[in-house]
Amino acid sequence: MDAGQQENSHERGERVNVKAFIERKTAEIQRTTGRQKVISALSGGVDSSTCTVLAARAIGANLKCIFIDDGLMREQEPERVREIFRDLGIRVEVVKAQREFFAALKGKADPEEKRKAFRHMFYSVFGREVFKGQARFLLQGTIKADILETKGGVKTQHNILEQIGIDPEKGYGFKVIEPLKDLFKDQVRVVAKALGLPREIYSRMPFPGPGLATRVVGEVTRPRVAVVRKATQIVEEEIARLKPFQAFAVLLSDRGTGVEKGRRKFGDIIVIRSVDSKDALTAKPTRIPWTVLEKITKRIIKEMPQVTRVAYELTPKPPATIEYI
Ligand code: XMP
Repeated sequence: MDAGQQENSHERGERVNVKAFIERKTAEIQRTTGRQKVISALSGGVDSSTCTVLAARAIGANLKCIFIDDGLMREQEPERVREIFRDLGIRVEVVKAQREFFAALKGKADPEEKRKAFRHMFYSVFGREVFKGQARFLLQGTIKADILETKGGVKTQHNILEQIGIDPEKGYGFKVIEPLKDLFKDQVRVVAKALGLPREIYSRMPFPGPGLATRVVGEVTRPRVAVVRKATQIVEEEIARLKPFQAFAVLLSDRGTGVEKGRRKFGDIIVIRSVDSKDALTAKPTRIPWTVLEKITKRIIKEMPQVTRVAYELTPKPPATIEYI
């Protein structure tokens, strides 16, 4: 169990008594951290945003929020997260670390190797920030599915350490606080709403910690991330009104044959992934209307001339995972 937290497990689909949950977690955070400083690992997703607001209420100025600009985020993400939190009265510091993350991922094509490299860089950067800020704790938005799936061997979730026997204090110099680790995604959304987070956050699609790196098959380079970022923006814009649990684009490592001005060429292959789910443990492909798929395809091939093929994926989870690595 992490730094001084009680076990208060919630089942899948169970209704959470939100008021009691917030009160209990507020007291736990206060008791665990005392007067010591805490760094929040904020990504702007539902989970990290919710625990950040919870902790800001609990310990006020002893909380410092950090957003790592790792170069793997969606378009305009650091600016938008800063704005949203400014409106909530919480200051966010953006730490530039793009060069370090791309260097750590260089030459790696194996999914687990990429995940481990990301995780190590993620905690190294936060270790440095915790040290600089003279803090003792790192606050993160780990939820129950993250723990279950990492322990179960589905993946190396970027933010799981203690639960698989890695001591964050020995490795990186801080203790971890995870106030949401007993909740599933749909339960976190209810808590987020009760805490006054804006709809843009509490109804937001999940976005994985390792960001667009989970959607690039093969080596993660700046140009390849730029391709998937642009395609993801198109998919999100066109699919938004269908409100899937999660939708995005993936860049494959193979190339697809196409024609340009009567000549053969080889271009990128983009896969569109959209799933419906409650808690991310299982998922089904969204029944996207044909017209929407056509519109997305048209936009991708028009706005991204390097793409020669676009496909829609129909695999449920299991056997596929939601992300590609
Ligand atoms: P998978 O791909 O394992 O994803 O079916 C299940 C849910 O978890 C998200 N995901 C992650 N979130 N760090 C995160 O914060 C990670 O390393 C990570 N890997 C997957 C994924 O987006 C989906 O919602």
